[in-house]
Amino acid sequence: MQSHDLIIIGAGLAGMRAALEGVKAGIDVAIVTKIHPLRSHSCAAQGGINAAIDPQDSRDSHAYDTVKGADYIGDEDAIELMCQEAPEAILEMDRMGTPFSRIEGGLIAQRAFGGASFNRTCYAADRTGQVLLHTLWEQLVKAGVKVYQECSVMRLVTDRAGAVSGVVAYDIKTGALFGLRGKGVLMATGGYGRVFLSNTNATTNTGDGMALALRAGAPLADMEFVQFHPTGLRTSGILVTEGARGEGGYLINALGERFMGKYAPNKLELASRDVVSRAEQTEIIEGRGKNGAIFLDLRHLGAEKILERLPQIRQLSLDLEGVDAIHAPIPVRPTAHYSMGGIRTDKLGASPLPGLYAAGEAACVSVHGANRLGGNSLLDTIVFGKITGAHCAASVKKETFRDFDNSAVEAVRANLADLKARPNKGLRPSALHHRMAGAMNLHCGVFRTPEGLDAGVAEIAGWRDDYTRIHLDDHADDFNIDLLRAVELGYLIDLAECILRGAQARPESRGAHSRTDHPNRDDDNWRKHTLSHWDGSLGAVTLSHEPVRTVGKAEYAPKVRTY
Ligand code: FUM
Repeated sequence: MQSHDLIIIGAGLAGMRAALEGVKAGIDVAIVTKIHPLRSHSCAAQGGINAAIDPQDSRDSHAYDTVKGADYIGDEDAIELMCQEAPEAILEMDRMGTPFSRIEGGLIAQRAFGGASFNRTCYAADRTGQVLLHTLWEQLVKAGVKVYQECSVMRLVTDRAGAVSGVVAYDIKTGALFGLRGKGVLMATGGYGRVFLSNTNATTNTGDGMALALRAGAPLADMEFVQFHPTGLRTSGILVTEGARGEGGYLINALGERFMGKYAPNKLELASRDVVSRAEQTEIIEGRGKNGAIFLDLRHLGAEKILERLPQIRQLSLDLEGVDAIHAPIPVRPTAHYSMGGIRTDKLGASPLPGLYAAGEAACVSVHGANRLGGNSLLDTIVFGKITGAHCAASVKKETFRDFDNSAVEAVRANLADLKARPNKGLRPSALHHRMAGAMNLHCGVFRTPEGLDAGVAEIAGWRDDYTRIHLDDHADDFNIDLLRAVELGYLIDLAECILRGAQARPESRGAHSRTDHPNRDDDNWRKHTLSHWDGSLGAVTLSHEPVRTVGKAEYAPKVRTY
């Protein structure tokens, strides 16, 4: 069996940044990834990355904006750490060769983003995630990091004491299963956007790391907080960057009215995402949308600016909506985008399960609380990728390899064999996925009603039951994507349960969690994190709660959040 000091699952920005730190610390680090690193979903982050690099700006102001944006449920020590480290993290990426957009004189260009009190979002046109991803991949190629490409991790292996000793991986290319032993395992698998029918996420975003960690005994935190991005394309849900509004684009309804003044009189379209998404959804519900969408108008920016700063979204709008943003407004709607919740970690990325770490969207550190600010997710990946990578390296240097129980490989083999052996009739995984994801949009979307949440929770048992009856059309060993999707659907159902139960149990409105029956924030009772646990004996998710980590600064005291 192959062994590595540190096994990183996922090759997006958080995973690659952590791997680089491991290499620098001299440990043996390997990455396991379902897809080629350059296809990781980090490449879809368009608009930019926040850092107080302008002398007129300050790290404290960035931290304050983030605490407020998080609706006072982010962990303040972690937020301060991220905002302190942000400028150096950007300059490091710059020195590695990231082609950021520049202003005259050569300084890194920065644009306005939602919920920020300064134009602090560094960018590379509307392809920021993509250029960061390429930069880090070059570094890993140079360092010769071992990458298990097109391999999906299907189980976390724990020893008798419950500590993580490795993983079971499935080689998508051949169908072979293999064990990998590690002194530490770092989950950097990104988010779970595919839990929802309308989302901005790649098909690969099935929350594998979160679900595997949950099943292995690690708690997930704050899963009820799901960010709906205000500008997903009407039909496909594909992202139209917030950078478009940062550059001066505005939102209009089907009557041509610029409506954000009613909802956020100061910041308008650059209020935080939860506020803008609710405003759009209200316009649509009250009949001022068209075919389920409102419109993003960029026409006044002019062709030159659109082509220079927003070329990708102009092309996406042309290709996917048949609309040329230079001449017509783009139909958009709130779309599931980002998970504020994830594997609970401390600010160094360690989970409560010995040997398990997490970084990036897979983790809940928690720097985003109930609502993430645009431009803070790329930042989270490179700051906490680096911090967690360094912490893992220091930790695994003190560890020896733990017992790896080979029966874990056999258990996964039996599961896969069972899926493949089912008779060719009954329910297709895609049909069950479609039903579940549709119900999530309906019951657990931008606005949540008690009846909707109860109905969603009541459906969980049916999804689990039907999952035992899904069948595959493809029985091959090599590139059996049918099999992979079926396994991923199991992860999505677990995560849907965490989201629904967390939302049902939180009787308040905070950030992205907006309950029609409890429209206000309840700081006296609910300024706390939700933890989701897997209870094997019940075959269900149970909840507990823990306090927010505060640092006692007067300016972070909860206030009414207006923009
Ligand atoms: O709108 C965007 O460009 C997305 C950025 C983000 O999610 O941070």
